[in-house]
Amino acid sequence: MGHRPGYVAPARVRPATRPGNPGPGYRDRMSAGADPTQPAEGPGSEVPFWDPARHGFDTLAIHAGQDPDPSTGAVAVPIFQTSTFAQDGVGGLRRGYEYSRSANPTRTALEECLAALEGGRRGLAFASGLAASDTLLRAVCRPGAHVIIPADAYGGTFRLIARVLGDWGVEHTSVPLSDLAAVRAAVRPGSTRLVWCETPTNPLLSVADIGGLAAIARDAGALLAVDNTFASPYLQQPLALGADVVVHSTTKYLGGHSDVVGGALVVSDTGLGDRLAFHQNAMGSVAGPFDAWLVLRGCKTLAVRVDRHCANARRIVRLLGNHPAVEQVYWPGRPSHPGHEVAAKQMRDFGGMVSFTVAGGEAAALEVCARTRIFTLAESLGGVESLIEHPGRMTHASVAGSPLEVPANLVRLSVGIESADDLVADLRGALDHVR
Ligand SMILES: Cc1ncc(COP(=O)(O)O)c(C=O)c1O
Repeated sequence: MGHRPGYVAPARVRPATRPGNPGPGYRDRMSAGADPTQPAEGPGSEVPFWDPARHGFDTLAIHAGQDPDPSTGAVAVPIFQTSTFAQDGVGGLRRGYEYSRSANPTRTALEECLAALEGGRRGLAFASGLAASDTLLRAVCRPGAHVIIPADAYGGTFRLIARVLGDWGVEHTSVPLSDLAAVRAAVRPGSTRLVWCETPTNPLLSVADIGGLAAIARDAGALLAVDNTFASPYLQQPLALGADVVVHSTTKYLGGHSDVVGGALVVSDTGLGDRLAFHQNAMGSVAGPFDAWLVLRGCKTLAVRVDRHCANARRIVRLLGNHPAVEQVYWPGRPSHPGHEVAAKQMRDFGGMVSFTVAGGEAAALEVCARTRIFTLAESLGGVESLIEHPGRMTHASVAGSPLEVPANLVRLSVGIESADDLVADLRGALDHVR
């Protein structure tokens, strides 16, 4: 597992067992015939076996929430493809399960694993990243609430906050989050409920100081939510830096294979966790069992994949930095990146997402997107395969004409884990064409 010099892994909190739901290590207890509402290591103990305080990231990714199935010994968590669960008499639930919108064992396994990976106490899995975001926003905002969002937020997040929640009386201000003074100035005392952070951002890879934002949010009596999709918990753990909620599109690095759409929320505060769980069940946008299983399988290899994503991104950035067709490169690992120092402090490495502007303008940028063979022209990111896209016309078309509009000559890469030499040759060929 890669450790960039200078990066200090944050301390982790222990996950909590959940009220009304089996806690970590529940499969061991199921086999022992123990009370599943009690913690794994004996009555009164709050210490589950798979513990972020004493196990490494890769161990948690493979084991947290994933003890072998007690009835069969299946090493892989089964896909509990069922909508409902038999009860032993009215209200006699077996191990807390009643109906799969409320809880499903495959989803529980994923939720426990995600909580462990983020160093949180409660994880919740959703049908998509935006379903997770919507649930969070509706759980903490009311008409008249104010949300601070990044000036270059993911377009879908902007659309949700501005064009859906806006109609329900939620107001927002978009601010460059790298400017802490501007964030502080945007706070509306008494009504700012949430500071929404993305770092690095999609698609311009700007970096925000999570600890600095946490202090501002705390002073304002607001919550800090960090969309950790681009970094993944392997590279960055916002809760340990003071965030209240971590948001994920698990569609991306956590799933890792471009074969599932999903989302997640992770929190440290169990009261907030209960509130979000209430909304998860009441609103109903949960991850289905098979989707939860796919994301869980992705989690197991997250660290090794992300190490390779980062190494390949370094090679691509070197190519882009020296190519005459390229105007500007956006990657927080470059010392010239304005957020480099902050990224170096709060991230283990700098990630596999790279954006750049093309000197020849929009037409040349579109040409580059059309000419790669290994970099597939497609939306989304974080999978094993390399992708290329034109944010202005694709992922970020929804912010056209808004303050969040992205440069027309911008190209975004999700650098995959193929052979680095092949990726460099593929992109160089496309860039040579527009030189
Ligand atoms: C940073 C970020 N957050 C949230 C989302 C939304 O996730 P989903 O597409 O799973 O709803 C995306 C999707 O691209 C994203 O890039």
